[in-house]
Amino acid sequence: MDRPLLQAIEAYRHRQTVRCHMPGHKGKESGLFGKLCAYDVTEIPGTDSLYDCGGPLRLTELRLSALYGAADSLLSAGGSSLCIQTMLAMAAKRGGTLIASRSIHVSAVNAMGLLGLDPVWVYPRGEKHLAGRVQPGDVEQALRAHPDALAVYITSPDYYGIVSDIAAIAAVCRKHSVPLLVDNAHGAHLKFMERDMHPITLGASACCDSLHKTLPALTGAAALHLGKDYAVRYEPDGRLPAPRIQGCVLYRRAKEMMSVFGSTSPSYLIMLSIEDCCAQLPSLDFRLMAERIRRLEDIALAQGMRIPEGERDGIKLVVDATDLGYTGKALAQRMRADGIEPEYADAVWAILLFSPLTEPAEYDAVAQFLESLPHGRPLPGHLFPSVLPEKCRTLPQAFLQESELLPVSECEGRIAAAVKSPCPPGIPVVMPGEKIDRKLIKLLNDSGILLLKVLK
Ligand SMILES: Cc1ncc(COP(=O)(O)O)c(C=O)c1O
Repeated sequence: MDRPLLQAIEAYRHRQTVRCHMPGHKGKESGLFGKLCAYDVTEIPGTDSLYDCGGPLRLTELRLSALYGAADSLLSAGGSSLCIQTMLAMAAKRGGTLIASRSIHVSAVNAMGLLGLDPVWVYPRGEKHLAGRVQPGDVEQALRAHPDALAVYITSPDYYGIVSDIAAIAAVCRKHSVPLLVDNAHGAHLKFMERDMHPITLGASACCDSLHKTLPALTGAAALHLGKDYAVRYEPDGRLPAPRIQGCVLYRRAKEMMSVFGSTSPSYLIMLSIEDCCAQLPSLDFRLMAERIRRLEDIALAQGMRIPEGERDGIKLVVDATDLGYTGKALAQRMRADGIEPEYADAVWAILLFSPLTEPAEYDAVAQFLESLPHGRPLPGHLFPSVLPEKCRTLPQAFLQESELLPVSECEGRIAAAVKSPCPPGIPVVMPGEKIDRKLIKLLNDSGILLLKVLK
């Protein structure tokens, strides 16, 4: 498989040019990063330019779109956060309403605030111990109640690997002629699992993938994929052109929006890692990875630990530590002592994230840890807290307004000015514009959130 970006940078390197351009390391083997500096180039003839690409970067995008079956794809060196800003900016028309799952990343909340988008929340449900899944029927109901909604925005998988029924939600969105935008930051691998569960395959209009979260790519590497049905709507003759350098109309609009939010100095190392990731993908064994994770789940179940039910992303081991007498955090502490660093732990759950690059001996270490874990007396069960705060202002009305930072205990009756989520994954406890009541204060305290920005 040819690697146009790598080839372009190699060619430049071999010319041994005097680098009178950025970055300041001049490609020298200085400092910690040694040889990597030679590949950390900028926009010079031959290396393309991300927001106006027609060379090696564009070829990498076309390769991504072919791999994912998308109408087109955009590279992001700013993670899924940048792709989310882009998706929302494409949907927004100087403000407006959109239907959004309450399980949402702060980058989306902030983008909505900036773009003047007023979200109508759909709360995931159906699970007692986790946030649950976004129900297609709830999306339908929200769309009926808000026929002016510009789009539906769903996070799936969530941080705990819970996957919503994207195919059914996409069908609802098609019926109401609104685009379905999916935060698939945690699901770049879903395309390559035994059953292709990638949102683009299942009918999403657009989605972001954090390649760096589940695939072999550098932190910050991500892609924005555009679905064929979505893209075709923007074509003057109603037919999607074959993938080409210039890109379809929607692609060009997405590029423009991405350039509004993105750095004008996107990292070439990150973009090179996307090209490298594409080259590695065909040889990665996702089936074997899934089998090995299922084996760990069997061990956890045999030990008496609960794991989430229903459709999941297949790349994480998520266990309820309280069943064996630990909090999730205490279990994580024990893992650390055994040389295992989990992705995240909270009061209940511990999350371990794998990839096809995880080695057999590493799975064995986790298996051994689980098998030798001393059992304690189960801790009292935790139901997933559900508080539906009262909305007093729209999100854009409360976003970045004059505010003050107060101890949570002094916030009763005040209106939140910023989003607060238990770090990092949870459903935000409170959004800008929502009223703080006693129930919410307890939940904030329980989530370890002690200070809050409220409107003045
Ligand atoms: C659900 C979700 N969406 C989006 C993001 C942002 O992704 P990135 O870090 O690639 O910008 C995250 C980050 O953790 C996330 O958990």
